[in-house]
Amino acid sequence: MTPQRTPPTHLIDGEESTRPEGPDPRPEPTSRFLRACRRLPVDRIPVWLMRQAGRYMSEYRALRARYSLLEICAEPELAAEVTLQPVQALGVDAAILFADILLPLIPMGADLAFVKGEGPIIYNPVRSAGDVLRLRRIDPEIELPSVPETIRLLRKELPPEVPLIGFAGGPFTVASYLVEGGPTRHFRTVKGLMYEQPWTWHRLMQLLRDIILDYLTEQARAGAQALQIFDSWVGALSPEDYQEYVQPHTAYLMRGLRKTGVPVIHFGTGTATLLDLMVEAGGDVLGLDWRVPLDQARRRFGSRVALQGNLDPIALFAPREELERQVMRVLHQAGPEPGYIFNLGHGILPETPVDNVRAVVEMVHTYRPQDEQEAGDE
Ligand code: CP3
Repeated sequence: MTPQRTPPTHLIDGEESTRPEGPDPRPEPTSRFLRACRRLPVDRIPVWLMRQAGRYMSEYRALRARYSLLEICAEPELAAEVTLQPVQALGVDAAILFADILLPLIPMGADLAFVKGEGPIIYNPVRSAGDVLRLRRIDPEIELPSVPETIRLLRKELPPEVPLIGFAGGPFTVASYLVEGGPTRHFRTVKGLMYEQPWTWHRLMQLLRDIILDYLTEQARAGAQALQIFDSWVGALSPEDYQEYVQPHTAYLMRGLRKTGVPVIHFGTGTATLLDLMVEAGGDVLGLDWRVPLDQARRRFGSRVALQGNLDPIALFAPREELERQVMRVLHQAGPEPGYIFNLGHGILPETPVDNVRAVVEMVHTYRPQDEQEAGDE
């Protein structure tokens, strides 16, 4: 088969996707987390943990014994309850909406199920131009009404010092599930679509980014105070492929999200060689995994974005002393300058001991970078 010609340089228009230099006209937030997103000074380092609501918590398992994941997501009272569990149990500085990056795919026409032990499965994966054209351009406000409803409930229940983070998947990561039909190790089918049918690929990315933009705009309108893009698997790409097949779409999404006025966290894993291109694509906060030393990232990007990360989630299984050593290393590397949010380098795993998670939140909250700086100055 002859490969289709690559189209879109027209995907980028003139507007910048990072914030312009100069004073920020928005009022200063008071919560630690939102202050750090805006690179303002904080009293303590803010901490939240990716996938902080989930199976490692007994409260969540008790609810999951009675309801499926999709039932919880569809019922605002339940989704709000699960969102609040880690806030109450751990004392984190932000809540993340309980939902899933694959939810929008269901009204778009994907036959999606979460299968025990296998993860998400899509029984009708997208493999051709015809498949892409059959996907529905949904209006998330109408087709996913439980999400803004959950956000409105949560804003009433959360204390003002704990902001609510909304989220969606990045276009590449969502496409990888849609095209592969489930989790993948080699990304062979999704890269196959990219290389063999670039026109179809770009059509798919345009559709996904447009829906993700509407979906996140709706979340911000309902009350989400920050938004995270989980482009978890984008590190599977070379910088050249990222630049050609993904970056223009992510940049378009990020430009659109600036209109919401809320800070955007841009996260991926295995992204060490993509970071310049990701920062160029946009976002106020760059989420890092444990493979990237935070001090290096601070030197390279600290004047342009805040950083979030990057404890290895496996360190939560280590003996307490080793765990503490690793948390301290992350905090030292982050340094004393404003614009840092403590987090894991990727999501918390299901069997993680809750006591260790609680201990990490406490370690971060008792840490004072100023003390260390003063000790170093002597
Ligand atoms: O507090 C939270 O962070 C929970 C909300 C949340 C879920 N999924 C609920 C969920 C978030 C932020 C996600 C994001 C998500 N979902 C990502 C990006 C983050 C990452 O880990 O890279 C991805 C790739 C998915 C897709 C997905 N959903 C997978 C691969 C799986 C199965 C594997 C797994 O992690 O369990 C899910 C299911 C899922 N989504 C669960 C939860 C709590 C576990 C399912 C259960 O309760 O049965």
